Amino acid sequence: MIGRLLTGVLGLASGLLSGTTANAQDTAPDFRSEILPILERSCFDCHQAPRRDADGRLRKPKGGLRLDGPSHFRAGGDNGAVLVAGQPDESPLYARTVLPPDDIDIMPEDGDPLSDAETALLRRWIDGGASFGDWQGSDAAGDQAERVAESIPLPSAQSRARAAEGLSPLAQSKLGKALGEHGRAEALDPERRLFRIHFAAHQDQVTDQTLKALTPVAEHVFTLDLRRTALTDRAVPDLLRFGRLHRLELGRTALTSKALAKLAQFEHLEDLVLVGTKGCDDAVLDALVEARPLRQLYVWGSSVTEQGLRRFATARPDVRVVAAPPLPPPPARDDDDAPPRRRR
Ligand code: HEC
Repeated sequence: MIGRLLTGVLGLASGLLSGTTANAQDTAPDFRSEILPILERSCFDCHQAPRRDADGRLRKPKGGLRLDGPSHFRAGGDNGAVLVAGQPDESPLYARTVLPPDDIDIMPEDGDPLSDAETALLRRWIDGGASFGDWQGSDAAGDQAERVAESIPLPSAQSRARAAEGLSPLAQSKLGKALGEHGRAEALDPERRLFRIHFAAHQDQVTDQTLKALTPVAEHVFTLDLRRTALTDRAVPDLLRFGRLHRLELGRTALTSKALAKLAQFEHLEDLVLVGTKGCDDAVLDALVEARPLRQLYVWGSSVTEQGLRRFATARPDVRVVAAPPLPPPPARDDDDAPPRRRR
C-alpha cells in the first residue's frame, strides 16, 4: 500500500518535473506577444526612458531600471542585474513580482500584483532562456542623440492652454478605440482635452492604418511621436488632419522629401523632430520656411546640407535649428535621490 502510494507520488513528481522541463524548452512564451503586454501594463509607467511630464518635470526610470529595450534589461537597475536567463529565482525581474502582496519590495510598486498566470508566464520565459525574439524596443534607436531628443521640454503651458480652447474632454472609450492595441496616451491637462500619443515599444508595428484609426481623436492630439514607425508618404493626408499638433516626431521614418515638405501646412506645429530621417533634405528645409509657428527643428542625421541650413537660417532666424547632436544634459537631480547609476 505504502509502496503503491510512494510510486504514485514519485510518478506524479517526475511527471511534473518533466512537464516543467518540456514547457521551458519547447514552449517558452514569446516575448513580444506574451511577456511584453504584461510589462507594458504593469511596469512601463515607472520603468521607461526619462521623459518630461505635462508640468515639464523630468521623470526618470525608478530604481535606475528601464524595460523598454533588451539592452536595458541587460543593463539592470541601480542594484545590478535584474534578469538571469534560466534562473527566475535569481532574477529580481521575476522574484519581486511573487513576493507577498504586503512586502514593501513587491513589484509593481503600486496597483494590483501580477496574476498567478502572469507570474507563471514570466517564470517560464526566464526558465526558457529569456529570449527577446526579434523585439528591439527602443534599442533600435541606438544613438544617444535620439535619447536627448526624448527629454526636450514640451511646448509651453501657454500654448497648451491656447490649444485646449474650445475642446471638450475626450471620452476614454473613444480614445481607447482610436489608440488600438499599441497606442499610448498621456493627458496633458486635468480635463483630459489634450494628449501626448506614442507607441512605447511597438513603433515598428505602426502603419498608415494605425494613424488612420487615430484620426477620430485627431483634434485632441497635442504631441505625436511617430519616430521609427513604418509610416509611408500615403499617411500624410491623415497626418495633416491633426490640426492642433504642436510637436511631431518623425525621426527615422521612410517618408520622402516631397511628403515631408507638406508638413509646412500645419497651423500650430512648433517642434518638428526629423532626426535620422533620410528623406529630409534641403527641399524640405526650403518648404519649412513657410511654417510660421515653427520654433524648433531637429534635423541631425538627416540629408540636409550646410548650404540648405544656411539658407534656412537666413530666412527664419526665429527658428532654433539643431543639426548636430547636442551634448548629453548633465545628470538630472530633480527627481528621487537615487544612488548613482551603476555602469555596465
Ligand atoms: C509605481 C511605480 C512602479 C511600477 C509600476 C513598477 N515599479 Fe519596479 N520599481 C519602482 C521603484 C520606486 C523602484 C526602486 C525602489 C525599489 O527597488 O524598491 C523599483 C525597482 C525595481 C527593480 C529593482 C531595480 C534595482 O536594480 O534596484 C525591479 C527588478 C523592478 N522594479 C521590477 C519591476 C517590474 C517587473 C514591474 C512590473 C511588474 C515594476 N517594477 C513596476 C517603481 C515601480
